[in-house]
Amino acid sequence: MRTIIQNGTVVTAGGVFKADVEIQGTTITSIAQKIKPEIGDRLIDASHQYVLPGGIDVHTHLAWPFQSTGTADDFVSGTKAAAVGGITSIINFTNPKRGASLIDTQKEWIEKGKLSAIDYGLHAIINEYSDRVLEELPILAEEYGVSSIKLFMAYKGELMVNDLEMYKIMKKAGELGVITNVHAENGDVIDELVKQAIAEGKTDPIYHGYTRPTIMEAEATGRALAIAEAADAPVYIVHVSCADALQKVNEAKKRGVKAFAETCPHYLVLDISYLDLPDFEGGKYVCSPPLREKWNQDVLWNGIRNGLISVVGSDHCPFQFEGQKTLGKDDFSKIPNGMPGLEDIFPLLYHFGVHEGRISLQKFVEAISTAPAELFGLSKKGSISVGKDGDIVILDPNRSRVISAETQYQNLDYNAYEGMEVQGVITHVLSRGEIIVKDGHFIGELGRGKYILRDRLQKTPSLNQQKEMQV
Ligand code: URP
Ligand code: ZN
Ligand code: ZN
Repeated sequence: MRTIIQNGTVVTAGGVFKADVEIQGTTITSIAQKIKPEIGDRLIDASHQYVLPGGIDVHTHLAWPFQSTGTADDFVSGTKAAAVGGITSIINFTNPKRGASLIDTQKEWIEKGKLSAIDYGLHAIINEYSDRVLEELPILAEEYGVSSIKLFMAYKGELMVNDLEMYKIMKKAGELGVITNVHAENGDVIDELVKQAIAEGKTDPIYHGYTRPTIMEAEATGRALAIAEAADAPVYIVHVSCADALQKVNEAKKRGVKAFAETCPHYLVLDISYLDLPDFEGGKYVCSPPLREKWNQDVLWNGIRNGLISVVGSDHCPFQFEGQKTLGKDDFSKIPNGMPGLEDIFPLLYHFGVHEGRISLQKFVEAISTAPAELFGLSKKGSISVGKDGDIVILDPNRSRVISAETQYQNLDYNAYEGMEVQGVITHVLSRGEIIVKDGHFIGELGRGKYILRDRLQKTPSLNQQKEMQV
């Protein structure tokens, strides 16, 4: 069937213009001022609305075992929530058991995604160095379309690798054109600070913030970037939370390191005061790196504007308040780390970014769709242009709504943005030409999402050029 989205304002990273968009089957086939409808066409009226490329969230932890528990959303609830919130592709993290084969882990996670409502890729987490890792990485890249891996510099004993492991793995990844995601915090020092705090009876959630200082994020960020430079490997620093760490990214980019940075909605919108909410409410906001002092938000927005931050990802790592976050009621170090955001990232970035005048519409599209597609090799996604998948969000900028756990699709007993009124209502979401969301309701089918075989970085020259950019 042919679908025509009529009379909308189309937004790409390159421009904003009035046009009709034609989709035949799964693919965008024409963009023109007026496309003549024919009998049998499905018409969607987008008058006074924005027609945007579907959001791509490259930082999700669905069905993720972590810190003695597991995340509350699986691929069913998580991808329905994503779709309703304007996200049409995700890249989720795997989580291999220690010593497990990366290939077996990849297969296990592809299977976990079988009921996905939207298209999904998988970053391979690597939690130790071995000869097998070196053997399996090329197979992952060539046969499983895994163009990105992830290393952690924190969560000692669970996920953390040391500098030598990081260097060896990054070097191999770099040779393959595979980009390395890094969680950059100094795990050794932080563990010591946490032990000291608990020994002193400082057990409330706010101490999660105090024991993970910005300087320990900045130190690890600088180290990861230096190791990537030595390994001549592309590196993507996930969830940059503060000015100190972003400064390290700036310095590395200026040196020509193939360095990219991501921040998350919670660092742009929330701040450390949330960790200090009474009655253990602060536990809802425990994530790592922690929420920071508010002034950092301006620095992060500025980083998005000037290209120092390429991508906004949700770091959706949801835990129920009752029964999961409360595991740490008497000891903040036992609160599972992570916050929800998959359903709200697109509306939050639109509201606090575009509506409140911090970023342009084009920058919004770049950060939530075009840059993640290019960096992580989603060649059919990330833009409204002929030949791309018909992954499209139609957003009415003249309406507003209130975010609430009552109405969310996320499988969660709270929402971190409860009660916030956001301008902009998503009226339709199309995934490969199929309408999967209408007026806030998921109307697609589970299992329609496809596993994405992704391209490696050398095939996306425009991003390689980013290293030349002056910031
Ligand atoms: O607190 C967080 N961010 N939890 C998820 C795991 C990670 O560090 O990304
Ligand atoms: Zn992390
Ligand atoms: Zn994460």
